[in-house]
Amino acid sequence: MDWRAGAVNALREIKRVKLGHLPTPIDSLDRLSTRIDGYRIWVKRDDCTGLATGGNKTRKLEFLLADALAKKAEIVVTSGAIQSNHVRQVAAASARLGLGCVLALFDVVPDRTEFYGVVGNVLLDRLFGAEMRFFPELENPDFSLDAISSELIAEGKRPYLIPVGGSNGLGALAYATAFLEALEQFKALREPLHAIVVPSGSGGTVAGLLLGAILSGWPGKIIGVSVSDKNERAIEKVRRPQLEGAEFLNVPIEIVNQTAIFIDDRFIGPDYGIPTAECVRAIKLLASTEGLLLDPVYTGKAMAGLLALIDERYFGEDARNLLFWHTGGSVALHGYPEIVDWEQI
Ligand SMILES: Cc1ncc(COP(=O)(O)O)c(C=O)c1O
Repeated sequence: MDWRAGAVNALREIKRVKLGHLPTPIDSLDRLSTRIDGYRIWVKRDDCTGLATGGNKTRKLEFLLADALAKKAEIVVTSGAIQSNHVRQVAAASARLGLGCVLALFDVVPDRTEFYGVVGNVLLDRLFGAEMRFFPELENPDFSLDAISSELIAEGKRPYLIPVGGSNGLGALAYATAFLEALEQFKALREPLHAIVVPSGSGGTVAGLLLGAILSGWPGKIIGVSVSDKNERAIEKVRRPQLEGAEFLNVPIEIVNQTAIFIDDRFIGPDYGIPTAECVRAIKLLASTEGLLLDPVYTGKAMAGLLALIDERYFGEDARNLLFWHTGGSVALHGYPEIVDWEQI
């Protein structure tokens, strides 16, 4: 058996706990596509993964929490920004599996309205019964997670730590599986898939998609639109979980190192969590032409990236079928009501 077949088998054998509604659909964005000469835009609906309003973390948590259960963990610990979608999905999954949950929430996004800290994801975290601990922005997330974990161990509990965004090797492998799922769906549609555009934050989603592309020998391009880090750091954040995931599957490391990671860091704007004009424009365009909800932190910026890349003729003559990978997050819209009235849009 060659390494590819071996790796696909190993991927299939990874234990999971069912949390999501999978596979998620692929929709054709026909009304958007008619505005964009020559391209057909598709969307992978990972905003519809089903767990507590959905999103990309459901897939990662199917793998990570199976590991937690195998290790007989009792309480899950993770961290993120106050309006983190990752944290909300961890809280929901923990509730569903009867596990305790402690969330370290960082106040990293300045100058928000009074809504930011009370509605959207924060409100849902409270409903799921998670213990929420708030930290000022200067705290280090890893340090806080370790400190919380030590405290829980001292109390005789068995914690399971999930890094920011669930982006370790195991979390990334969930997205290698997701990539294979999407490729099968395009095969069934009898359509070629030329390129994928997806938001990139903690890096695990792009890492996993790239691993899936390596396993299937798919020749297209995956572009991660960074929502927080400039290129060099964003690429490092993808490479680490990608290498960890590859090791798990026995994929030759040199093959991984040879695969380019394409990150576009032009759409971050002032910083993580701060909407930009082109992000708000993309949110309004998709809402008004397709009835599709994006979000102001991740998918709005990624869609702004996709539209700009199309404008710039980045994809070339033969790349006509473009997939926007919707990673969820629209619940956070409630924390940003000001975008509706942005005058410059
Ligand atoms: C809606 C949404 N999209 C994209 C991402 C980024 O995924 P990753 O952290 O795997 O890069 C996140 C991460 O929290 C998210 O919540």
